[in-house]
Amino acid sequence: MKHILTSLILTLLSINIAVAASGDADAGKTKAATCAACHGSNGIGASDTFPNLAGQHSDYIVKQLKAFKSGDRKDPLMAPMAAALSEQDMADVAAYFAGLPHDGGSQDSGSASAGTSTSSAPVAYVPNPAAGKSLYELGDASRNIASCIGCHGSEGNSEVLIYPNLANQHPEYIAKQLMNFKNKSRVNYAMNQFAGNMTEDDIADMAAYFADPAAVANVVSRKIMPAAPITDEVIAGKAKSATCAACHGADGNSPVAIYPKLAGQSADYIIKQLQEFKAGTRKDPVMGPMAAALSEQDMLEIASYYGAQKIAVAELAGSDIGKKLYFGGNVKRKITACVACHGVNGKGMNKAGFPTIAGQNEAYLKAQLMNFKKGQRNNDYNTMMQSVAAKLSVSDMDELAKFMASMK
Ligand code: HEC
Ligand code: HEC
Ligand code: HEC
Ligand code: HEC
Repeated sequence: MKHILTSLILTLLSINIAVAASGDADAGKTKAATCAACHGSNGIGASDTFPNLAGQHSDYIVKQLKAFKSGDRKDPLMAPMAAALSEQDMADVAAYFAGLPHDGGSQDSGSASAGTSTSSAPVAYVPNPAAGKSLYELGDASRNIASCIGCHGSEGNSEVLIYPNLANQHPEYIAKQLMNFKNKSRVNYAMNQFAGNMTEDDIADMAAYFADPAAVANVVSRKIMPAAPITDEVIAGKAKSATCAACHGADGNSPVAIYPKLAGQSADYIIKQLQEFKAGTRKDPVMGPMAAALSEQDMLEIASYYGAQKIAVAELAGSDIGKKLYFGGNVKRKITACVACHGVNGKGMNKAGFPTIAGQNEAYLKAQLMNFKKGQRNNDYNTMMQSVAAKLSVSDMDELAKFMASMK
């Protein structure tokens, strides 16, 4: 009775003060009655295709409901459900589900763990939960798959409210969403990239990991990407790079802020830059003569050497403003998000000629953005960087450089 009264009063209050909705779990409980058919009365989905909502972050739930309502996220079942909800309803049901125990409580745990249906169909691939764990915790830099732990937290317990918890989610649902992100029927920039780079086997491994994280709790994640191989070029390049060491450091970690680090930079990109310094299409009074003395073979070897070194990045404060711009761009000002080309980890994309900018010296980064803006550096294909830099203000550049320098 008291609950109903409270919620009534709150509902009346919320009509009078039309503020940004903050959720009321009691009111949400009543409103969530319609959701129970699929998401369970305890927030544990009634079957594998219905996601668990118990203990999910309320911010995330609201965001998804808005996306279903606007059509940004498409699902034939959820669209009409969300369409019927006001912002206040959304906040209320979100508060309700967020407050439920993550495992749905003991009362209905039978259906929660009923995800182990055995299939008699022939199995082409046996999913490997340990491989899923490795990919989850370490990602795979060579394929531009970020480690999931950074956003979704240890074992799927996300600490950032806008990143969904994956812990206690149905593995089938996780696999389905990864496929949706992969084929872009569900749109989220970051997730489309990671899932897009995952194979179906990776996705099966990931689902297997979430099916029973405890089973591999003691398994130490194995780095998927092997260290860069020591080739003949790398060995020869080390000797030839002696003349570069004064400015770029013996291992490619330049000690001086205005000289770029070359360690871990993509070899293709280094070769392109050296060719252009030599040809004069990228102008620099210091690098022009240095590159002029190099043959194509020298360039290949030196680039292989630096590319195989490990970049050293100090603990830096970074910049929240820079981070936002890096990942989100700015639609109003038509600034393309840097993440589109330089990647989630700032490691660029070797094959596409997008350089690593993560951990690069801040002063150098800032100088290059300014050079692109002024057109003093114009060796980028299709003016890709010039058109982005043209829209950046000096303070944008400061913040971006601060952020990129702190990326690891
Ligand atoms: C008829 C079944 C059904 C009903 C009723 C239903 N849902 Fe859903 N809901 C689904 C399905 C199916 C999905 C997964 C959609 C997908 O695969 O993208 C989903 C997804 C969601 C998600 C996204 C979860 C995530 O982890 O991304 C939220 C939030 C949600 N529902 C909230 C609600 C709320 C609140 C109600 C009640 C007002 C409700 N649903 C009623 C079937 C239902
Ligand atoms: C940069 C942060 C970030 C990283 C790294 C990341 N994710 Fe996500 N993930 C998100 C966000 C944000 C969403 C919610 C998207 C939305 O709002 O629809 C999401 C959603 C998901 C979902 C759907 C959850 C649901 O309840 O519907 C799954 C599954 C998922 N991610 C798996 C992964 C896996 C596996 C990895 C590692 C390969 C990963 N994510 C890496 C940010 C990230
Ligand atoms: C006297 C100092 C100095 C020496 C020696 C030097 N460099 Fe540089 N290097 C620079 C400076 C300064 C820049 C930045 C130029 C600019 O602002 O465009 C640079 C830029 C570069 C770049 C472009 C990096 C990027 O991220 O775009 C490459 C590649 C490079 N140098 C390779 C070399 C190689 C290889 C050698 C040895 C053969 C060498 N450098 C020797 C000072 C030096
Ligand atoms: C459409 C793809 C694209 C986008 C979007 C993009 N870049 Fe670039 N960026 C490039 C390419 C390509 C290069 C290398 C050009 C060349 O070949 O010299 C580059 C080079 C750079 C460099 C110089 C790196 C070095 O070592 O000299 C910096 C700094 C940089 N980008 C920062 C940014 C920032 C900050 C943003 C977002 C505001 C951004 N980029 C958005 C494609 C892109």
